[in-house]
Amino acid sequence: MMARRRRQIFEGKAKVLFEGPEPGTIVQYFKDDASAFNSKKKGIITGKGVLNNRISEYLMTCLGEIGIPTHFVRRLNMREQLVREVEIIPIQVVVRNVVAGSLVKRFGMTEGSPLPRCVVEYYYKSDELDDPMVTEEHITAFGWASPQDMDEIMSLALRINDFLSGLFLGVGIRLVDFKLEFGRLWEGDQMRIMLADEISPDSCRLWDKKTNDKMDKDRFRGDMGKVEEAYQEVARRLGILPESGPRDMQGPEVMQ
Ligand code: TMP
Repeated sequence: MMARRRRQIFEGKAKVLFEGPEPGTIVQYFKDDASAFNSKKKGIITGKGVLNNRISEYLMTCLGEIGIPTHFVRRLNMREQLVREVEIIPIQVVVRNVVAGSLVKRFGMTEGSPLPRCVVEYYYKSDELDDPMVTEEHITAFGWASPQDMDEIMSLALRINDFLSGLFLGVGIRLVDFKLEFGRLWEGDQMRIMLADEISPDSCRLWDKKTNDKMDKDRFRGDMGKVEEAYQEVARRLGILPESGPRDMQGPEVMQ
């Protein structure tokens, strides 16, 4: 039998999007390709796609259960998940709990200092422009999102941060910062903002609570080695990496 080819919609740095089986759906295929510093550094993290597909499925499902609308429908196989087709808002929403990354570079702050309150930042998604940081003023004036959309996005981002911070802390991981993307879903003349893209060690900074060891893409960015192992450890702690079959997939391991 001839394999049926699917129409590719878009190829990104870490994922490929295909037309889904039903109208209004998309298949997200997770690659092992890794990039950093706006693609100036490229590489492969073997097995990353499989782990990110599973981790993002787990986190989006948990968020769905507390009432956060997400584009996630179901995982299809090791590397693919079915999601709802949304109109992506071209803004990266970064939420920070602890000083790291560009906050160190921009303000000379000490990596690892806890922030007195979480900081939310917006970046305009543009490879050509290197994702410049923007304010809500730019976003609303340039028509990328309305003030109402931004209120909804901010409120969702804070709820997501509270929930994920607790979820990760329960398995001995500090959620230092992370990036979210949102999209619009139209149902008739009703529009709903929902969480889109992925949540994985590619888009989060995750540090071991006790040792502060990095368990995320910073290991790739900084050539620190043991990248695959770090992603695997995140999945293992969340209780979604089977060690001896499905018995081991029952839920997170609670850490003291
Ligand atoms: P930053 O400290 O480099 O600004 O990154 C903040 C967080 O956002 C960090 O968890 C990594 C994530 N991030 C992405 O997922 N994609 C990006 O393009 C950038 C710049 C950051």
